[in-house]
Amino acid sequence: MIRLKNEKQIAGIRKSCKLLSAMYRELVPLVKPGMETAEIDRWARIWIKKAGGRPAFLGYGPRDNPYPAAICVSINNEVIHGIPGKRKIRDGDLVSLDSGIELDGFVSDQALTVEIGKVRPDLHALNVATRECLYKGIAAVKAGDRLLQVARAVQRHAHSRNFGVVREWGGHGVGFDLHEDPQVPNYPHGPNPRMPNGLVIAIEPMINLGEGGVEVLEDGWTVVTSDNSVSAHWEHTVALYGGKAEILTEALDDLSGGL
Ligand code: MF3
Ligand code: CO
Repeated sequence: MIRLKNEKQIAGIRKSCKLLSAMYRELVPLVKPGMETAEIDRWARIWIKKAGGRPAFLGYGPRDNPYPAAICVSINNEVIHGIPGKRKIRDGDLVSLDSGIELDGFVSDQALTVEIGKVRPDLHALNVATRECLYKGIAAVKAGDRLLQVARAVQRHAHSRNFGVVREWGGHGVGFDLHEDPQVPNYPHGPNPRMPNGLVIAIEPMINLGEGGVEVLEDGWTVVTSDNSVSAHWEHTVALYGGKAEILTEALDDLSGGL
């Protein structure tokens, strides 16, 4: 069941989203070669707490294997849900950051992929195309139109660049909880409701340099590409109100590096 949001609730989600984007604005410039990914998580936890929020990812998921961090850090062939730890960031890496904040009961979700130092031109092209997929998807959010138009827009753009679309994971309703109905896939699949005013969704294309196939590592979280190709991930929280889409999170395009 899709839980629609009224104007006041959207204002609450917007506030949570702006806070999350403000965190990235401070965090991303600190991410440098030699940095342990666990350091990114420690920093994010402290920042979110100081700001009066709660890390929405921390403790999320199955009771016997909850997600153990405030932020996902997924490097190169890691697609999403990378768990921060001892691994160090290196020059030339594509580092995807994904986090969420609960503020006054309202949940935000945003991801971006950062180019560390000098990255290979094909990886830069992948990153740019993935971000373009996100904005193509958002442009398809219009009251009364079908949800899978978003999926078609994302898939069409990725395929036009000969990149692979990850099919096992996708976007979702968000705002009261981290994951709500509807599912927002990045290829046309499953339920295709009309999008009503009051809809709040996270759109999050995950695009691979190679094939779209993925696997989950032993840790039960880290999603990697099956062919070991590099992957990128961009996400915004978007509200549909007054007939059109508002991006509630702030654009972080200028933080991605390599521009
Ligand atoms: N943006 C990610 C998603 O929607 C965040 C979830 S990570 C989790 O799947 F750890 F919280 F599950
Ligand atoms: Co999400």
